[in-house]
Amino acid sequence: MTESYEIIDHEFDVVVVGAGGAGLRAGFGCAERGLNTAIISKVFPTRSHTVAAQGGISAALGNIEEDDWRWHMYDTVKGSDWLGDQDAIEYMCREAIPAVIELEHYGVPFSRTAAGKIYQRAFGGMTTNFGEGKPAIRTCAAADRTGHAMLHTLYTQALKHKAQFFIEYFALDLIMSDDGQCLGVMAWDLDTGKLHRFRAHQTILATGGYGRTFFSCTSAHTCTGDGNAMALRAGLPLQDMEFIQFHPTGIYGAGCLITEGVRGEGGYLTNSEGERFMERYAPSAKDLASRDVVSRSMTIEIREGRGVGEHKDHIHLNLMHLEPEVIYSRLPGIAESSRIFAGVDVTKEPIPVIPTAHYNMGGIPTNYLTEVLNPTKRNPNAVVPGLMAIGEAACVSVHGANRLGSNSLLDLVVFGRAAAYRCAEIVKPGMAHRPLQGDDGSRAVDRLDHYRNSNGSTPTSELRLRMQKTMQNHAAVFRTGEVLEEGAAKIDECFGAKVDLGIRDRSMIFNTDLVETLELDNLLSQAVVAMHSAANRQESRGAHAREDFPDRDDQKWMKHTVTWLDQNKGKVKIDYRPVVMKTLTDEIEPIPPKARVY
Ligand code: FUM
Repeated sequence: MTESYEIIDHEFDVVVVGAGGAGLRAGFGCAERGLNTAIISKVFPTRSHTVAAQGGISAALGNIEEDDWRWHMYDTVKGSDWLGDQDAIEYMCREAIPAVIELEHYGVPFSRTAAGKIYQRAFGGMTTNFGEGKPAIRTCAAADRTGHAMLHTLYTQALKHKAQFFIEYFALDLIMSDDGQCLGVMAWDLDTGKLHRFRAHQTILATGGYGRTFFSCTSAHTCTGDGNAMALRAGLPLQDMEFIQFHPTGIYGAGCLITEGVRGEGGYLTNSEGERFMERYAPSAKDLASRDVVSRSMTIEIREGRGVGEHKDHIHLNLMHLEPEVIYSRLPGIAESSRIFAGVDVTKEPIPVIPTAHYNMGGIPTNYLTEVLNPTKRNPNAVVPGLMAIGEAACVSVHGANRLGSNSLLDLVVFGRAAAYRCAEIVKPGMAHRPLQGDDGSRAVDRLDHYRNSNGSTPTSELRLRMQKTMQNHAAVFRTGEVLEEGAAKIDECFGAKVDLGIRDRSMIFNTDLVETLELDNLLSQAVVAMHSAANRQESRGAHAREDFPDRDDQKWMKHTVTWLDQNKGKVKIDYRPVVMKTLTDEIEPIPPKARVY
C-alpha cells in the first residue's frame, strides 16, 4: 500500500526538466522573455552530459573557407540517409549561424583564428557545394572542450536571467490530464527527501539520451533517458529508436570519447598492417566519412582479422605526426584522457579505439517548433498540448538515421532557443493554471513507493548488466534478423524481470539505490522499444545496418518508426509517420534521395 507522502506544490509558466545545453538554453530564453521558469535537474547543471562534448558545434560561418548553410543542410540530409525531416533540418542549419554568434556574445570562450574569428575545423560528412566540393571547415571549437565551455556559459546566462533552479531533483513522471494535456511534472528532492508537484503551462523535456542501455558507451552514467521513459509511461510514443550511433573512436576498454576533431585536425585510423584502410571504404572523405560508415569499416577490419592488439579486436588512431603545438592547443583534453584511460602518450603512440555507443537519433517526436507529437492515423502531426522536447531526448527529426558529428551541440542550442521562442508565443506570463483533473501526480508517487519498498531477489545492478550486455550484443553496429529477434526475446525477459527487483535502502534522502532502480526502469522501457524497432525495420539505413537487408529501401521504409509501450504487458506497438520532404522556405529546394557515398 502506498505510504502517504507530503507534497510541496509549485506553479510556473514553464518548467524545464534537464539542465544540459538544451535545457539551459530553453530555460534562460523563457526567463528572458518574462516567463516564470523553473529548471529541474538531477545533477548540478554544469555536470550535465553536455560537458563531455568535445569537438565542436557546426555552423556555416565561413570563418576559414567559404561556406553556406544550404551546403550544411545538404550534408545533414545526406548524413541522415534521407530519414531526417527537411523542414526541421533547414531550420537548424539556417539558425545555426545566429545561434552560434549569440553564443559568442554570451561569452563562450571559442578558440580563435589568427584574425580573431571563431576557430573552425573539419568534421565527418561535412562538405561544400552540395557534396561536390572539398571538406567543409564548419565545426566551431573551443579546443576539444567545446561542450564544457558552452555549458558553463549557458549556466551563467540562466543565473543572469533568474531562471529558478531545483538542483538534485529527480523527475519522476509527467502529470497528464484525462484529455491528454501535460499539466506539469512530479519530482523528488534528493537532498530533503520531499516530493514536489510542479504545475506548468509548458513542460520542456531536455533529459538527454539513453546511452546507458549499452554496456560500453561514451555517455555518462546519468544518461538514462528519463524524459523518454516518462513520455512512454504517459502513453506517448517514441520515434526511430532503432537508430543508435556508434562513435568510431571510443577508447578501447574504457569507452571514453576521443573526438572526431582528432581526425578533423589530420589524425587517421590504421589496422594491424599499418594500412590507412578508410581509403578503401570512403575514397573521397576517407577518415572524415560519416560516423556510421567509419564504424562499419572498422568493424569489418576487425572481423576480417586486421584488428590490432593481442586479441586483434580494436583499431589504432594516429596523431603522432601532428605538430605538438596542434595537440596542446587544439586537442589537450584527448591527450589527457588517452594518458589516463589508455596509458598512451599521443605524441609517440597511437590510441587504441573501438566503435562505442554514443548517441540516440531516436526519441520523443516533435515538430521543428519543439512541440511533442502524438501521431494518429488522421493526423501524423497531432501536438500534445503543454509538452515540448529538445536535445537528445527529442527526435525532431534533424538527424534521421545517422547524426553528423557537431550537429548535436547545434541541435541543443537551436532547438533550446526555438522552445523559448515558442513558449513566449503561446504562454502569457502569470496565466492561471487549469485545475488538476485525471492524474494529480499520484501515479508518480505510486511508482516511487513501489520501488522504494521492493524486496525481490534481483539486485538492480544485476538486471542492469543483463540489459546492457543484451543491447551490446544484439543491437550492435551490424545487425541481422536472427540476432535482433533473439535480442528482442532477451530484452523482453529483462523487462519482465523488473518484478523481482529488490532494494535495500528504504530512506528518502539521497537514496542512490532507489535512484538507480528508477533509472533502470526508465532504461528498460527504452531498450525494449529500441530492440523491437530494430527487429522490425527490414532495410539498412544510416546507423541501422542489417546484413540480411543490406540496401536502403525507400519504397517501403522511408518513414519514421513510431512506438508505444504497454507498461503492464511490456508489449511494443509499432506504427509509422511520413518523413517531411518539404523545406520550410523557397530558399532551398527539397533534397531528393540518392545513393549515399563518401
Ligand atoms: O567527436 C566528437 O567530438 C563528438 C561530437 C559529436 O558527437 O557531435
